[in-house]
Amino acid sequence: MAEIKCIGIVTSGNDAPGMNSAIRAVTRSAIYNGLKVKAVYRGYKGLIDGEIVEFETQSVSNIIQQGGTILKSSPSKDFMNADGRKKAYENIVKEGIDALIVIGGDGTIHGARVFAQEFDYPCIAIPATIDNNLCGTDTTIGYDTALNTIMQTVDKIRDTATSHERLFFVEVMGDGAGFLALNGGIAAGAEEAIVPTIEIEEDQLHHFIQKGFRKTKGSSIVLVAATNEQTGGALHYAELVKNQYPELDVRVSILGHLQRGGHPSAHDRIIASRMGAASIQALLKGLRN
Ligand code: F6P
Repeated sequence: MAEIKCIGIVTSGNDAPGMNSAIRAVTRSAIYNGLKVKAVYRGYKGLIDGEIVEFETQSVSNIIQQGGTILKSSPSKDFMNADGRKKAYENIVKEGIDALIVIGGDGTIHGARVFAQEFDYPCIAIPATIDNNLCGTDTTIGYDTALNTIMQTVDKIRDTATSHERLFFVEVMGDGAGFLALNGGIAAGAEEAIVPTIEIEEDQLHHFIQKGFRKTKGSSIVLVAATNEQTGGALHYAELVKNQYPELDVRVSILGHLQRGGHPSAHDRIIASRMGAASIQALLKGLRN
């Protein structure tokens, strides 16, 4: 197995709070262990286009607390085909990068696995997505911050929902997974959470309105997880209820991309730092992929 002297870091796919904390940890751990660090800008697209810059310790100063990714991110259709990946591999060889640390979600990690197999090349993936929809880790980087953002936002919505005695459907992200809706719902004390993994029937909605909402409460919050196909589920449920119960004052709030921003929570900074350091230790121990 070739000795690793230089690593590349790339963030790809959708950003998540805590990615910068991970970039910092990877860079600092690598340099501490005598490795060179090359940062790839704009995800896999940058790998293909050769947007690669050497990083020093100071390159990652003052970023642990910043949301987003300083390396930028961009979807890359080209990395999905063999020609694109070959170009990326040629750039990696040209730059003398012996292993890649890839920070991202589902699609990014899938891309890294294909690349690693195709070129028998060492890649270590660090799971970062607000959706928490990856196996092999209890929580992904970004999830805790997004959960806190949802909780704080729903707290605010509850103030106005209570004053006006309204029923709110609040839609949160999740990419087909219900972690944000379910746990955001628990944290904010929502009355219900509608998640893609549990099919909801109209009867259940009626049951909730009759028993859970109408009998005991003047206002209510229902969290709805966006499916991976589209947003708008909250609008759909609101329409259903409005048609059946015109006397109810129903509102919809789609939280959208604000869930992806903001300073990472302590939890996200800590797991990002630990995973970043662990990725370098793993490589140095000879672990691959
Ligand atoms: O992966 C995070 C995520 O927030 C998903 O939950 C959501 O479906 C998607 O990103 C939206 O991404 P875009 O930035 O392309 O709108």
